[in-house]
Amino acid sequence: MQDKQIYFVEHLLEWYKKNQRKLPFRETKDPYKIWVSEVMLQQTRVGAVINKIENKYLQFIERFPDIEILANSKTEEILELWSGLGYYNRAKNLHQTARIICEKYSGKFPDSYQDLIQLPGIGDYTASAILSIAFNKPYAVVDGNVKRLLFRFFYNELDQTYSEKGIKNLANELIHFPKVEPSEFNQSLMEMGALVCIYKYPKCNNCLISSYCSTKDFSKEEKLNIPPKSINPKKQIKIYIYIINKYNKLFIIKNQHLFLKNHYFFPYEIKEKKEHLEISDSPHTFLGNFKHNIMNYLFDAYIFLVNENKKNFTFYQQDKTESKWIEVSETKKYLYSSFAKKVLDLYNNSSSLF
Ligand code: ADE
Repeated sequence: MQDKQIYFVEHLLEWYKKNQRKLPFRETKDPYKIWVSEVMLQQTRVGAVINKIENKYLQFIERFPDIEILANSKTEEILELWSGLGYYNRAKNLHQTARIICEKYSGKFPDSYQDLIQLPGIGDYTASAILSIAFNKPYAVVDGNVKRLLFRFFYNELDQTYSEKGIKNLANELIHFPKVEPSEFNQSLMEMGALVCIYKYPKCNNCLISSYCSTKDFSKEEKLNIPPKSINPKKQIKIYIYIINKYNKLFIIKNQHLFLKNHYFFPYEIKEKKEHLEISDSPHTFLGNFKHNIMNYLFDAYIFLVNENKKNFTFYQQDKTESKWIEVSETKKYLYSSFAKKVLDLYNNSSSLF
């Protein structure tokens, strides 16, 4: 095992030197910037959306170049910039954590695991990424790409229960090898997982370390199943979304349930499958429908323009949900999620019809 591990580490680092992508957050060691980039990179698989994240990162750093500026900004402005990245609580946590670091640590980023892990939104992954990439401390970062690469390469050596602990222990062992730079090591693992040891199409023929890989001769199907995909199907939810427009103002609510919690959205109803409100029976104008993914939900969304005269539509005002009427020009400030934007696009594209 030891020889294979040494081979792996040496060749991985060599590969990374020559093949790493030039990404803006790789040109800094500023823990604030590394933190912002890692929170953004956690959004989803990096390979798929790297351009989007690069652009957002550059915009974010231009607008909030240091932690004090971020701490002193308005949450709404941060959310507006975060628009389209999803997971809006992460943006709120960035703000809260920036404030705490400014107050408690005079704006100096903590460099200990114990201090970092206390901060809102910073868990094991983010703390390890900041400590290794910004401070070059040996904390292994294990994301989905890293897991896949290590499980495939060390398949024969690892126990096949795919335990998270086992993989973390292995990564932590490797990061302590002599001459290993933690920053390079973690990023090279993530990078090789993202560019070579890809989930569906592993590029084994172009892989520098494939000769020692336990699974190089496995069939395509077998490789796909290492590690096995967790069986966690998306929950399908039918949702009716109501656009209520009066005197050029839109009615919005602060959502309390299920998705985009504590963020503004349109009033809506979740439709149980058995319930049958046919669109043609509806007292509203049907604008269109689309599907939208958020976390583990797949929304089947139907959008209606509410005609308040036709039916007394007070359901949304009956509970204590926070609500407000906003100017159409304020939508960017309040309705920054991709979900709300899709609804607005439908509305804008169809409003010329009325
Ligand atoms: N995924 C998350 N952080 C990353 C990084 N710094 N490099 C490559 N992939 C990543």
